[in-house]
Amino acid sequence: MLTNEQGSHELALGDNVPDSDAEFLAQYYTLNPQAPWRLSLDVESGCYRIEQILSEPATEMAQTLKMAKPSKRAKQSALSLTLDFRAGHYQHRHIHPSKEPLIQAVKIKKKLPERIIDATPGVLKDSLMLAGRGVHIIAIERNPILFVMVRQALARLPDCPNIDYYFGDACDLLAQYEAPLIYLDPMYPPRANSKKGAQVKKDMQVLHHIIGADSDAGTLFTVARAQRARIVVKRPNYADPIADETPSFVSQTGTTRFDVYLPAVVKPTP
Ligand SMILES: C[S@@+](CC[C@H](N)C(=O)[O-])C[C@H]1O[C@@H](n2cnc3c(N)ncnc32)[C@H](O)[C@@H]1O
Repeated sequence: MLTNEQGSHELALGDNVPDSDAEFLAQYYTLNPQAPWRLSLDVESGCYRIEQILSEPATEMAQTLKMAKPSKRAKQSALSLTLDFRAGHYQHRHIHPSKEPLIQAVKIKKKLPERIIDATPGVLKDSLMLAGRGVHIIAIERNPILFVMVRQALARLPDCPNIDYYFGDACDLLAQYEAPLIYLDPMYPPRANSKKGAQVKKDMQVLHHIIGADSDAGTLFTVARAQRARIVVKRPNYADPIADETPSFVSQTGTTRFDVYLPAVVKPTP
């Protein structure tokens, strides 16, 4: 989570970040121009871009030798992510939503629910796709950087999607909202004996740096379970069900599955 050696969160900001966003982020991060991750507004798109700054240690020795051979670190390409909902993948999913397994997974009695709470909205791909199908989305994001990036990208859309977007921990806020379905897509747990680390997509690598591991996903699930709603949890095939609770049924698709939990039946008091 953009953590420095002292364990505090550090972030560099570009000059063009509006004061209101800088003040908001300063509540959660130490703003330091030398931090290895920088958030700035992309001039072309008007959307936020987060990028990794790979600096070469400017030692006297390195300067004297003129770095004849680039070091391994200098050869690495820096990670970056620009969040623009008008581009690429977002538009594709919007135009071809019928191919989306998530659509099938969230249907109740073969119909899409009118409202869904997305308690792990991330970069909003799933929410935008569902909103594009007419579902009213209540999205609650707790990561300050993602929140600022997504809010800006939403504001750049010509047509405002049907998404109420809030900042905060869904564990604290869920009970304030009502919907027949709560959708959870926490970061995937790491594989045991993973050799696939290098294959993780660059966007995902950036998210790992920004968000961390969502290691409290079980708590969020337990809070969601206390609401009277159906819960759909996106999981990789290799992982056990969240909080080790067996789902009511599973919607399977390739390497991903959607574990569906019917609302807990509340027994009438005798
Ligand atoms: C893997 S991403 C979700 C990706 C998302 N489904 C999409 O389509 O872009 C998980 C996100 O859930 C957020 N998150 C995890 N636990 C949360 C909580 N308790 N409250 C709010 N947001 C949470 C993380 O900050 C992260 O942005």
